[in-house]
Amino acid sequence: MAKEVVLSGIRPTGFLHLGNYFGAMRNYVRMQDEYDCYFFVANWHSLTTHPDTRELGVAVNRVVAENIACGLDPDKVALYVQSDVPEIAELYLYLNMLSYKGELEKTTTFKEKVRLSPDNVNAGLLTYPVLQAADILIHRAVKVPVGKDQEQNMEMARNFAQRFNHRYGETFPMPYGFNYGGELVKILSLDGNGKMSKSENQLATLYLADEDEAIRKKIMKAKTDSGPTEPNAVKVDYIENLFTLMKIVSTSDVVKKFEDDFNGCSIRYGDMKKQLAEDMVNFIKPIREKAADLQNNKELLDRIKKQGADKARASANETIKLVRKAVLG
Ligand code: ADP
Ligand code: TRP
Repeated sequence: MAKEVVLSGIRPTGFLHLGNYFGAMRNYVRMQDEYDCYFFVANWHSLTTHPDTRELGVAVNRVVAENIACGLDPDKVALYVQSDVPEIAELYLYLNMLSYKGELEKTTTFKEKVRLSPDNVNAGLLTYPVLQAADILIHRAVKVPVGKDQEQNMEMARNFAQRFNHRYGETFPMPYGFNYGGELVKILSLDGNGKMSKSENQLATLYLADEDEAIRKKIMKAKTDSGPTEPNAVKVDYIENLFTLMKIVSTSDVVKKFEDDFNGCSIRYGDMKKQLAEDMVNFIKPIREKAADLQNNKELLDRIKKQGADKARASANETIKLVRKAVLG
Protein backbone atom coordinates (compact mmCIF):
# COMPACT_ATOMS: atom_id res chain seq x y z
CA MET A 1 0.00 0.00 0.00
CA ALA A 2 1.23 3.51 -0.80
CA LYS A 3 2.48 5.44 2.21
CA GLU A 4 0.45 8.41 3.44
CA VAL A 5 1.75 11.76 2.24
CA VAL A 6 3.09 14.22 4.82
CA LEU A 7 3.92 17.87 4.18
CA SER A 8 5.02 20.84 6.24
CA GLY A 9 6.79 24.16 5.81
CA ILE A 10 8.70 26.76 7.79
CA ARG A 11 9.13 30.42 6.83
CA PRO A 12 12.71 31.68 6.52
CA THR A 13 11.97 34.79 8.57
CA GLY A 14 14.60 34.35 11.27
CA PHE A 15 16.45 31.88 13.45
CA LEU A 16 14.63 28.65 14.27
CA HIS A 17 13.73 28.14 17.91
CA LEU A 18 12.49 25.45 20.27
CA GLY A 19 8.86 26.20 19.38
CA ASN A 20 9.61 25.30 15.77
CA TYR A 21 11.49 22.23 16.94
CA PHE A 22 8.80 20.93 19.25
CA GLY A 23 5.75 21.94 17.19
CA ALA A 24 7.17 20.92 13.84
CA MET A 25 10.68 19.55 13.29
CA ARG A 26 10.68 16.89 16.00
CA ASN A 27 7.67 15.37 14.28
CA TYR A 28 9.28 15.65 10.84
CA VAL A 29 12.24 13.60 12.00
CA ARG A 30 10.05 10.85 13.41
CA MET A 31 7.75 10.83 10.39
CA GLN A 32 10.48 10.45 7.78
CA ASP A 33 10.73 6.69 8.31
CA GLU A 34 7.01 6.00 8.20
CA TYR A 35 5.59 8.32 5.55
CA ASP A 36 6.15 9.80 2.11
CA CYS A 37 7.46 13.18 3.32
CA TYR A 38 7.70 16.65 1.78
CA PHE A 39 9.25 19.43 3.86
CA PHE A 40 9.96 22.87 2.48
CA VAL A 41 11.16 26.39 3.18
CA ALA A 42 8.28 28.80 2.61
CA ASN A 43 10.21 31.68 1.02
CA TRP A 44 7.18 32.99 -0.94
CA HIS A 45 5.24 33.17 2.31
CA SER A 46 7.98 35.24 3.92
CA LEU A 47 7.50 37.92 1.22
CA THR A 48 4.07 38.70 2.66
CA THR A 49 5.70 40.27 5.73
CA HIS A 50 9.40 40.59 4.81
CA PRO A 51 9.67 42.41 1.45
CA ASP A 52 13.40 43.10 1.93
CA THR A 53 15.05 40.03 0.40
CA ARG A 54 18.73 40.85 0.91
CA GLU A 55 19.08 38.24 3.66
CA LEU A 56 16.55 35.79 2.24
CA GLY A 57 19.02 33.42 0.56
CA VAL A 58 21.04 33.10 3.76
CA ALA A 59 17.89 32.54 5.81
CA VAL A 60 16.67 29.84 3.40
CA ASN A 61 19.99 28.01 3.70
CA ARG A 62 19.86 28.29 7.48
CA VAL A 63 16.42 26.67 7.63
CA VAL A 64 17.59 23.83 5.36
CA ALA A 65 20.77 23.36 7.43
CA GLU A 66 18.95 23.47 10.76
CA ASN A 67 16.40 20.90 9.61
CA ILE A 68 19.18 18.52 8.61
CA ALA A 69 21.07 19.24 11.84
CA CYS A 70 17.92 18.22 13.75
CA GLY A 71 17.95 14.83 12.04
CA LEU A 72 16.10 15.22 8.76
CA ASP A 73 17.65 13.05 6.05
CA PRO A 74 17.44 14.66 2.57
CA ASP A 75 17.75 11.21 1.00
CA LYS A 76 14.63 9.98 2.80
CA VAL A 77 12.42 13.05 2.36
CA ALA A 78 11.92 15.75 -0.24
CA LEU A 79 13.51 18.82 1.37
CA TYR A 80 12.99 21.76 -0.96
CA VAL A 81 12.45 25.47 -1.37
CA GLN A 82 8.92 26.63 -2.20
CA SER A 83 9.94 28.89 -5.10
CA ASP A 84 11.65 25.94 -6.84
CA VAL A 85 8.22 24.36 -7.38
CA PRO A 86 6.22 26.69 -9.67
CA GLU A 87 3.31 24.21 -9.77
CA ILE A 88 2.42 25.54 -6.30
CA ALA A 89 1.85 29.02 -7.74
CA GLU A 90 -0.44 27.65 -10.42
CA LEU A 91 -2.55 25.76 -7.90
CA TYR A 92 -2.65 28.91 -5.74
CA LEU A 93 -4.17 30.73 -8.72
CA TYR A 94 -7.01 28.20 -9.10
CA LEU A 95 -7.64 28.12 -5.35
CA ASN A 96 -7.75 31.91 -5.21
CA MET A 97 -10.91 31.80 -7.34
CA LEU A 98 -12.52 29.62 -4.68
CA SER A 99 -11.61 31.74 -1.66
CA TYR A 100 -13.55 34.76 -0.51
CA LYS A 101 -12.40 38.13 0.73
CA GLY A 102 -14.74 37.95 3.72
CA GLU A 103 -13.42 34.66 5.08
CA LEU A 104 -9.79 35.65 4.47
CA GLU A 105 -10.24 38.96 6.30
CA LYS A 106 -11.65 37.11 9.30
CA THR A 107 -8.61 34.90 9.96
CA THR A 108 -6.77 35.58 13.21
CA THR A 109 -3.28 35.68 11.71
CA PHE A 110 -4.38 38.19 9.06
CA LYS A 111 -5.96 40.46 11.66
CA GLU A 112 -2.87 40.18 13.84
CA LYS A 113 -0.54 41.05 10.95
CA VAL A 114 -2.70 44.03 9.98
CA ARG A 115 -2.48 45.24 13.56
CA LEU A 116 1.33 44.86 13.61
CA SER A 117 1.98 46.40 10.15
CA PRO A 118 -0.97 48.56 9.09
CA ASP A 119 1.11 50.05 6.26
CA ASN A 120 1.75 46.76 4.50
CA VAL A 121 -1.63 45.09 4.09
CA ASN A 122 -0.88 43.49 0.73
CA ALA A 123 -3.00 40.98 -1.19
CA GLY A 124 -0.41 38.26 -0.57
CA LEU A 125 -0.96 38.65 3.15
CA LEU A 126 -4.70 38.33 2.69
CA THR A 127 -4.35 35.19 0.59
CA TYR A 128 -1.62 33.64 2.77
CA PRO A 129 -3.88 30.70 3.76
CA VAL A 130 -4.63 30.04 0.07
CA LEU A 131 -0.94 29.70 -0.74
CA GLN A 132 -0.56 27.45 2.31
CA ALA A 133 -3.43 25.27 1.06
CA ALA A 134 -1.70 25.06 -2.34
CA ASP A 135 1.53 23.94 -0.59
CA ILE A 136 -0.34 21.10 1.05
CA LEU A 137 -2.69 20.07 -1.75
CA ILE A 138 -0.02 20.06 -4.47
CA HIS A 139 1.22 16.76 -2.98
CA ARG A 140 -2.25 15.65 -1.89
CA ALA A 141 -0.87 15.47 1.65
CA VAL A 142 -3.06 14.18 4.48
CA LYS A 143 -0.87 14.74 7.55
CA VAL A 144 0.62 18.14 8.28
CA PRO A 145 2.93 18.33 11.31
CA VAL A 146 2.50 21.88 12.66
CA GLY A 147 2.09 23.74 15.94
CA LYS A 148 -1.21 24.76 17.46
CA ASP A 149 -1.03 28.24 15.90
CA GLN A 150 -1.71 26.65 12.49
CA GLU A 151 -5.12 25.15 13.33
CA GLN A 152 -7.09 27.84 11.55
CA ASN A 153 -4.92 27.65 8.43
CA MET A 154 -5.50 23.89 8.37
CA GLU A 155 -9.23 24.34 8.60
CA MET A 156 -9.12 26.77 5.70
CA ALA A 157 -7.05 24.35 3.62
CA ARG A 158 -9.77 21.73 4.15
CA ASN A 159 -12.45 24.24 3.14
CA PHE A 160 -10.66 25.10 -0.10
CA ALA A 161 -10.03 21.43 -0.88
CA GLN A 162 -13.66 20.59 -0.24
CA ARG A 163 -14.88 23.44 -2.44
CA PHE A 164 -12.55 22.37 -5.21
CA ASN A 165 -13.73 18.75 -5.00
CA HIS A 166 -17.34 19.84 -4.94
CA ARG A 167 -17.03 22.06 -7.98
CA TYR A 168 -14.55 20.17 -10.16
CA GLY A 169 -14.73 16.58 -8.94
CA GLU A 170 -12.95 14.60 -6.23
CA THR A 171 -9.27 15.56 -6.49
CA PHE A 172 -7.88 16.22 -3.00
CA PRO A 173 -7.96 14.21 0.24
CA MET A 174 -8.58 16.23 3.45
CA PRO A 175 -5.39 17.31 5.26
CA TYR A 176 -5.12 17.49 9.05
CA GLY A 177 -2.60 18.98 11.49
CA PHE A 178 -0.53 16.31 13.19
CA ASN A 179 1.53 15.83 16.32
CA TYR A 180 2.74 12.52 17.73
CA GLY A 181 1.29 13.40 21.11
CA GLY A 182 -2.20 13.75 19.58
CA GLU A 183 -2.84 17.40 20.42
CA LEU A 184 -1.05 20.15 18.49
CA VAL A 185 1.40 21.91 20.80
CA LYS A 186 2.37 25.45 21.68
CA ILE A 187 5.67 26.31 23.36
CA LEU A 188 5.42 29.50 25.38
CA SER A 189 7.97 32.26 25.44
CA LEU A 190 10.23 31.96 28.55
CA ASP A 191 8.78 35.21 29.91
CA GLY A 192 5.35 33.57 29.87
CA ASN A 193 3.99 36.09 27.33
CA GLY A 194 2.46 34.30 24.36
CA LYS A 195 4.08 31.74 22.08
CA MET A 196 7.80 31.45 21.49
CA SER A 197 8.34 32.97 18.05
CA LYS A 198 11.08 34.03 15.66
CA SER A 199 10.48 37.72 15.98
CA GLU A 200 9.21 38.35 19.51
CA ASN A 201 11.27 38.84 22.70
CA GLN A 202 14.62 37.34 21.70
CA LEU A 203 15.78 37.08 25.32
CA ALA A 204 12.85 34.77 26.05
CA THR A 205 13.32 32.62 22.94
CA LEU A 206 15.70 29.67 22.77
CA TYR A 207 17.21 29.52 19.29
CA LEU A 208 18.87 26.43 17.84
CA ALA A 209 21.80 28.75 17.00
CA ASP A 210 22.22 30.07 20.57
CA GLU A 211 25.65 29.86 22.23
CA ASP A 212 25.94 27.95 25.52
CA GLU A 213 26.13 31.04 27.71
CA ALA A 214 23.08 32.63 26.05
CA ILE A 215 21.09 29.44 26.67
CA ARG A 216 22.04 29.40 30.35
CA LYS A 217 21.23 33.07 30.80
CA LYS A 218 17.83 32.83 29.12
CA ILE A 219 16.78 29.78 31.10
CA MET A 220 17.91 31.21 34.45
CA LYS A 221 15.75 34.28 33.70
CA ALA A 222 12.66 32.24 32.74
CA LYS A 223 9.52 33.20 34.59
CA THR A 224 8.71 31.17 37.73
CA ASP A 225 6.96 31.89 41.02
CA SER A 226 7.23 30.94 44.68
CA GLY A 227 6.06 27.38 43.98
CA PRO A 228 2.91 25.34 44.60
CA THR A 229 1.16 25.75 47.92
CA GLU A 230 -0.72 22.45 47.96
CA PRO A 231 0.28 18.91 46.90
CA ASN A 232 -0.47 17.83 43.32
CA ALA A 233 -1.49 21.32 42.25
CA VAL A 234 -2.30 22.12 38.62
CA LYS A 235 0.71 23.82 37.00
CA VAL A 236 0.34 27.35 35.69
CA ASP A 237 1.20 27.62 32.00
CA TYR A 238 4.72 29.08 32.33
CA ILE A 239 5.71 26.31 34.79
CA GLU A 240 4.15 23.64 32.60
CA ASN A 241 6.22 25.09 29.75
CA LEU A 242 9.47 24.51 31.69
CA PHE A 243 8.44 20.91 32.28
CA THR A 244 7.61 20.53 28.59
CA LEU A 245 11.08 21.78 27.65
CA MET A 246 12.62 19.48 30.24
CA LYS A 247 10.79 16.52 28.72
CA ILE A 248 12.46 17.24 25.37
CA VAL A 249 16.02 17.51 26.62
CA SER A 250 16.37 15.75 30.00
CA THR A 251 16.25 12.09 31.00
CA SER A 252 12.97 10.72 32.33
CA ASP A 253 14.57 10.28 35.79
CA VAL A 254 15.36 13.97 35.96
CA VAL A 255 11.87 14.94 34.84
CA LYS A 256 10.36 12.58 37.41
CA LYS A 257 12.46 14.03 40.22
CA PHE A 258 11.22 17.54 39.55
CA GLU A 259 7.62 16.36 38.98
CA ASP A 260 7.77 14.66 42.38
CA ASP A 261 9.27 17.76 43.98
CA PHE A 262 6.52 19.86 42.43
CA ASN A 263 3.79 17.50 43.59
CA GLY A 264 5.31 17.40 47.08
CA CYS A 265 5.65 21.22 47.18
CA SER A 266 9.41 20.98 47.69
CA ILE A 267 10.46 22.13 44.23
CA ARG A 268 13.28 24.67 43.93
CA TYR A 269 12.89 26.34 40.58
CA GLY A 270 16.48 27.64 40.72
CA ASP A 271 17.73 24.02 40.80
CA MET A 272 15.30 22.97 38.11
CA LYS A 273 16.44 25.78 35.84
CA LYS A 274 20.13 24.95 36.40
CA GLN A 275 19.51 21.34 35.43
CA LEU A 276 17.36 22.37 32.45
CA ALA A 277 20.02 24.84 31.29
CA GLU A 278 22.77 22.19 31.28
CA ASP A 279 20.61 19.63 29.51
CA MET A 280 19.51 22.28 27.00
CA VAL A 281 23.13 23.24 26.28
CA ASN A 282 23.90 19.58 25.59
CA PHE A 283 20.87 19.32 23.34
CA ILE A 284 21.39 22.50 21.30
CA LYS A 285 25.18 22.45 20.96
CA PRO A 286 25.50 19.58 18.43
CA ILE A 287 22.58 20.96 16.40
CA ARG A 288 24.14 24.43 16.36
CA GLU A 289 27.54 23.06 15.34
CA LYS A 290 26.22 20.76 12.63
CA ALA A 291 24.00 23.51 11.19
CA ALA A 292 26.93 25.96 11.14
CA ASP A 293 29.13 23.45 9.29
CA LEU A 294 26.44 22.82 6.73
CA GLN A 295 25.83 26.51 6.17
CA ASN A 296 29.47 26.88 5.25
CA ASN A 297 29.10 24.17 2.63
CA LYS A 298 27.10 26.00 -0.03
CA GLU A 299 27.78 23.39 -2.69
CA LEU A 300 26.32 20.62 -0.59
CA LEU A 301 23.29 22.76 0.29
CA ASP A 302 22.71 23.55 -3.38
CA ARG A 303 22.84 19.85 -4.21
CA ILE A 304 20.40 19.03 -1.42
CA LYS A 305 17.96 21.75 -2.52
CA LYS A 306 18.15 20.60 -6.14
CA GLN A 307 17.52 16.97 -5.19
CA GLY A 308 14.56 18.07 -3.04
CA ALA A 309 13.11 20.25 -5.80
CA ASP A 310 13.33 17.38 -8.31
CA LYS A 311 11.44 15.04 -5.98
CA ALA A 312 8.85 17.69 -5.13
CA ARG A 313 8.28 18.67 -8.76
CA ALA A 314 7.68 15.09 -9.79
CA SER A 315 4.86 14.82 -7.28
CA ALA A 316 3.56 18.37 -7.93
CA ASN A 317 3.46 17.70 -11.64
CA GLU A 318 1.17 14.72 -11.23
CA THR A 319 -1.25 16.75 -9.15
CA ILE A 320 -1.25 19.82 -11.37
CA LYS A 321 -2.09 17.66 -14.38
CA LEU A 322 -5.15 16.32 -12.57
CA VAL A 323 -6.07 19.84 -11.48
CA ARG A 324 -5.79 21.32 -14.97
CA LYS A 325 -7.90 18.55 -16.37
CA ALA A 326 -10.52 18.97 -13.66
CA VAL A 327 -10.72 22.77 -14.01
CA LEU A 328 -9.98 23.45 -17.64
CA GLY A 329 -11.18 20.23 -19.20
P1 ADP B 1 7.36 31.50 13.73
O1 ADP B 1 5.95 31.48 14.24
O2 ADP B 1 8.36 31.41 14.80
O3 ADP B 1 7.64 32.57 12.72
P2 ADP B 1 6.79 29.68 11.61
O4 ADP B 1 5.57 30.47 11.50
O5 ADP B 1 7.68 29.64 10.42
O6 ADP B 1 7.57 30.17 12.90
O7 ADP B 1 6.44 28.21 12.08
C1 ADP B 1 7.03 27.03 11.62
C2 ADP B 1 6.44 25.86 12.36
O8 ADP B 1 6.75 25.93 13.76
C3 ADP B 1 4.91 25.80 12.29
O9 ADP B 1 4.51 24.44 12.21
C4 ADP B 1 4.47 26.38 13.60
O10 ADP B 1 3.21 25.90 13.99
C5 ADP B 1 5.56 25.88 14.53
N1 ADP B 1 5.71 26.76 15.69
C6 ADP B 1 6.13 28.04 15.67
N2 ADP B 1 6.17 28.55 16.93
C7 ADP B 1 5.73 27.56 17.74
C8 ADP B 1 5.55 27.44 19.17
N3 ADP B 1 5.85 28.45 19.97
N4 ADP B 1 5.09 26.28 19.67
C9 ADP B 1 4.80 25.23 18.84
N5 ADP B 1 4.96 25.27 17.51
C10 ADP B 1 5.43 26.40 16.95
N1 TRP C 1 2.12 29.21 7.81
C1 TRP C 1 3.10 28.34 8.37
C2 TRP C 1 3.67 29.01 9.60
O1 TRP C 1 3.61 30.20 9.73
C3 TRP C 1 4.21 27.99 7.40
C4 TRP C 1 3.66 27.22 6.25
C5 TRP C 1 3.52 27.67 4.96
C6 TRP C 1 3.14 25.90 6.28
N2 TRP C 1 2.97 26.70 4.19
C7 TRP C 1 2.72 25.61 4.96
C8 TRP C 1 3.00 24.94 7.27
C9 TRP C 1 2.16 24.37 4.63
C10 TRP C 1 2.44 23.70 6.93
C11 TRP C 1 2.02 23.43 5.64
O2 TRP C 1 4.18 28.34 10.43
